Amino acid sequence: KRHLLGIADLNQYEIVDLLDRAERMIPVSRQERKTLPTLSGKTQINLFFEPSTRTQGSFEIAGKRLGALVVNMSVRTSSVTKGETLIDTASTLNAMQPDVLVVRHSAAGAVELLSQKVGCSVINAGDGAHEHPTQALLDALTIRQHKGRISGLTVAICGDIANSRVARSNLLLLNALNVRTRVVAPKTLLPKGIEDMAAEVFTDMHEGLKDADVVMMLRLQHERFAGRMIPSVREYYHFYGLDAEKLAVARPDAIVMHPGPMNRGVEIDPSIADGPRSVITDQVEMGVAVRMAVLDALLPAGGTK
Ligand code: CP
Repeated sequence: KRHLLGIADLNQYEIVDLLDRAERMIPVSRQERKTLPTLSGKTQINLFFEPSTRTQGSFEIAGKRLGALVVNMSVRTSSVTKGETLIDTASTLNAMQPDVLVVRHSAAGAVELLSQKVGCSVINAGDGAHEHPTQALLDALTIRQHKGRISGLTVAICGDIANSRVARSNLLLLNALNVRTRVVAPKTLLPKGIEDMAAEVFTDMHEGLKDADVVMMLRLQHERFAGRMIPSVREYYHFYGLDAEKLAVARPDAIVMHPGPMNRGVEIDPSIADGPRSVITDQVEMGVAVRMAVLDALLPAGGTK
């Protein structure tokens, strides 16, 4: 059984192989070609302990386009609400003989722990502030589609780096592919040890965005601040919200990305989010192709478990 728990477990060849597979999946993911039934007879269970629109929806579509039986476990109506533990929930689902569990959890490391207790493949759909590997893969595919390459580009990741599994997985992936990575954030939103993960660290947007090929904005994760917001949202938008004036210092052909969900008027101005440089909906579209590729790579065609 094979898992996808984080980008940290992949080398550059494995990353490029997944991106190549995903590119080949695009026509099927867009329904330009018929469903590819490589997962026919397989069972996929989506188990999301945190809310999700994009990741859960695209994993469901990806599994179905590959012919799998897809079950969405609703945690809110499951026995988790009666106090069943993560491990007991995993063992229970494992007894139903799935081929793959797609899991999101608020605790870093919870998905890896679960993978040790089940007999099927496990895919990390986001664990705390640790990793969100399929998001980094879909971001990389979006960059490659728009820029024709990934290596050699300058990518600025801006905003709530401290709470972001998206930033962490992206930095691991982009560094593996020889991208010049920058992070831009107020000091209060930079995690300890960030200097070891990013090529350059900035606290000023104009400096951090200068000549960038890709500007990746992150959601300010209000729910993780427990009522304590430094700086205030208004100050944050003034200094770190992406607007036309700040974007003007990036390269003229720079693309703007955001993993979603967006806080419009907090980390990004609506005119930029909906503007001609935004590739945010393309990211969502690439999410289906990437998740098809990951499912296809982890689950051998034909045969059963
Ligand atoms: N980007 C992302 O993970 O979005 P969801 O929380 O909607 O899945």
